[in-house]
Amino acid sequence: MLGALAAPAPDPIIALMQRLAADPRDGRIDLGVGVYRDAAGRTPVMGAVAAAEARILAAQQTKGYLGLAGDPGFLAAMVDLLLGASSDRVAAVATPGGSGALRQVLALVAQANPDAQVWIGVPSWPNHAAIAEGLGLAVRPHAYLDAGGGVDTAAMLADLEGARAGDVVVLHASCHNPSGADLTGDDWAAVADLCARRGLVPLVDVAYQGFGAGLEEDVAGLRHLAGGLPEVLVAASGSKSFGLYRERVGLALALCAGPAEAGRVGAALAALNRRNFAFPPDHGARVVTTILRDPVLCADWRAELAGIRRRVQANRSALAQALRVATQGAGFDALERQRGMFSLLDLAPDRIEALRERHAIYLVPDGRINIAGLTPATIPTVATAIATVLRG
Ligand SMILES: Cc1ncc(COP(=O)(O)O)c(C=O)c1O
Repeated sequence: MLGALAAPAPDPIIALMQRLAADPRDGRIDLGVGVYRDAAGRTPVMGAVAAAEARILAAQQTKGYLGLAGDPGFLAAMVDLLLGASSDRVAAVATPGGSGALRQVLALVAQANPDAQVWIGVPSWPNHAAIAEGLGLAVRPHAYLDAGGGVDTAAMLADLEGARAGDVVVLHASCHNPSGADLTGDDWAAVADLCARRGLVPLVDVAYQGFGAGLEEDVAGLRHLAGGLPEVLVAASGSKSFGLYRERVGLALALCAGPAEAGRVGAALAALNRRNFAFPPDHGARVVTTILRDPVLCADWRAELAGIRRRVQANRSALAQALRVATQGAGFDALERQRGMFSLLDLAPDRIEALRERHAIYLVPDGRINIAGLTPATIPTVATAIATVLRG
């Protein structure tokens, strides 16, 4: 039976990681994989996380099962973080990471409306389409980027005019992956109006809260949608914001038309958890709850997150400036304006290969760079190498 299985196409990022690990050259620069790195190139355990883990270790008496939805304290703390307040219209369950949350909210969509089309911007994080298609949902592309590295809102809205009532629109709350180009407040308002007018349901992917403009600012668009629409879906991740990548912390949330619907949807989400993996992981979720519910730990976490944000933004400005100097060109303002860890460099595949082969600089084949992979020491090297490959 299993012999008939075809191998899936290799994931380009995993393939890149393997190539990098096998590269014997000193001074390799990894701008590929999407994890935060500090100036020493490490993905650190955040201070508040280490403190919360110590407390949990000292106090925890049991590892017995929790409910299918996860720890109610975690659900409440995450709803506050995302929406700013609790609501009797909310149904939520804990999931293994943001990917698990996307899977569960899209499974809910497939159950509620198997004919729903899932509208995804081009480009987007590749797993959005993969998860939707894996559930048998039809994926429709919509325009997203303009030529200057910003969002082409008019083209996006024009494409979404083709959506049917009950379709789902996937939106990045902030720090768009892979481009760093985020919707403005006016863009969110326009998307909300369109969803209301055409009966579309937004699915907001919150994977980088606190990495862009700030903890509140990064979910302002989500909160605008939640304030005006009857139904909003959310897939949130604790991987980046709490540095809990391997602990798999996520939340699948559905804002429903009313409390009765929320009760039924909550039960449906819990049943989906049951069917897919039964009980969600608890350790990372407990760390998050401990931090969010303790004023001292929370202040410490917020301060560390602000430091991460400042570092990423400083790297952006420094790279943009170094590229202006190295290429003697303009056109890098968007790089500085964009937010979060990622930007897309407009480089043809042969230039990306040349960066890897001749300069040991690794980036994803679509030209996405992880800004957090840069350090003050490597920025001039990277800028000079990019200028060199651009000259051919
Ligand atoms: C846009 C986006 N959404 C969701 C995720 C899911 O993250 P995780 O499953 O690790 O929590 C990621 C991770 O890279 C992401 O970039």
